[in-house]
Amino acid sequence: MSETAKIILEGKEYELPVITGSEGEKAIDISNLRGLSGYITMDEGYKNTGSTLSAVTFLDGELGILRHRGYSIEDLADNCTFLEVAYLLLKGELPTESELADFEHKITEHTLVNEGLEGMFKAFPTGSHPMGQLSSMISALSLFYPKSLNPHRDEDAISRTIIRLIAKMPTICAMIYKKRNGHPIVFPNNYLDYVTNYLNMTFGQVTDPNYTPDPVIVNAMNKLLILHADHEQNCSASTVRMVGSSQSNLYSSISAGINALWGPLHGGANQEVLEMLEHIKNDGGDVTKWINKAKDKNDPFRLMGFGHRVYKNFDPRAKIIKKACDEVLEKLGVNDPVLEIAKKLEEVALSDPYFVDRKLFPNVDFYSGIIYRALGFPTDFFTILFALGRLPGWISQWQEMRLEKQPIARPRQIYTGQAPREFVPMEKR
Ligand code: SDX
Repeated sequence: MSETAKIILEGKEYELPVITGSEGEKAIDISNLRGLSGYITMDEGYKNTGSTLSAVTFLDGELGILRHRGYSIEDLADNCTFLEVAYLLLKGELPTESELADFEHKITEHTLVNEGLEGMFKAFPTGSHPMGQLSSMISALSLFYPKSLNPHRDEDAISRTIIRLIAKMPTICAMIYKKRNGHPIVFPNNYLDYVTNYLNMTFGQVTDPNYTPDPVIVNAMNKLLILHADHEQNCSASTVRMVGSSQSNLYSSISAGINALWGPLHGGANQEVLEMLEHIKNDGGDVTKWINKAKDKNDPFRLMGFGHRVYKNFDPRAKIIKKACDEVLEKLGVNDPVLEIAKKLEEVALSDPYFVDRKLFPNVDFYSGIIYRALGFPTDFFTILFALGRLPGWISQWQEMRLEKQPIARPRQIYTGQAPREFVPMEKR
């Protein structure tokens, strides 16, 4: 006997099916609620609403668990390269050696960016925000590959589009970095692995063909990209699914996801964390003062990098990043005073009832900015790195929505505006 939920509306009882996920999660299926009762549900910000069934990522906010296709984030971060995890997200299985080699080879065939796109890029104002440049460039890919716009055209075209996006994202991210410094673009070197190639295009110079990134930095970047690879139905992934559900093309769906990630409450938080830590340092480093500001309802200040819509325990990614942070700064011989402020903030916050009662723990963004800065990235570039990591997750979510033939996403509302009224001609207003 399958489980059901009963609700009584205006004296009438309705029975709704209950869905149980493979990890025992429960949902009341309200797909027919309006047809049966005329009622809809209301859940501003979708805090209690499931938008889809999904097999890509599982997370348990109470226990601080994150798994991709059944594998724990700890195992993946310790044992895989970023492209291995990207393959896992996209295909559902970890690749064999030959499958990974084929995947990597296909990517090397698409790492260059069309000269015409580069021309558009050169017109962007120097100093414009990297995330605005990235979303514009990804959307503009749809102009250069018109044959791959129809998401239902053919699987080969879609596979090529997916490879094209994964191949060109690092090149475009590196171009954006070069632009901010007024340096010439370093082209992809297809003899380098994905992450080394990205670091070479970013920190290498056309005048220094022998540049080799520090293996510590390559390893840290691989791990950071893996930790950002997917996170089920977060704001940006839901945006990608929403735009994709209209059968818009993958480029426009990913560009929309980048724009959603840009927000300071989402992926933009890593930039905000560093700016907050810098501000606290420059203000004298009194963390208690800033903790009290974060607790003050009349003060708009929030402790950036703390709290999460789903995690009501430690974000498992934050734990891994915090450990990597210590290792990377030690190996690179970096002594970053904001790291000490971050640790003091975390220590004070985690013993303060305001944060404990609201289950506000450090999230993925709290420590990532400190590593990114130690690796040489400027603060307004941190969310670019989040997007670079999240790309395979967004694509996997889009693929699942497409292959499941999900309907166009169109939520309902409850109207609270004016009652019907007579039109007032201009002369009588
Ligand atoms: C990411 O969804 C994902 O999976 C996202 C992500 C991913 O991988 O895709 O994990 C990446 O976006 C991580 C989150 C990065 N954002 C930040 O670090 C910004 C700071 N955090 C907050 O703004 C907040 O915690 C959110 C936005 C992350 C979550 O907000 P919710 O779930 O809407 O919770 P809420 O705003 O209703 O807060 C509940 C209470 C409120 O207090 P009360 O009204 O109950 O008195 O907690 C308070 C909030 O005021 N609160 C904070 C706080 N976060 C929540 N108070 C001070 N500082 C904070 N950071």
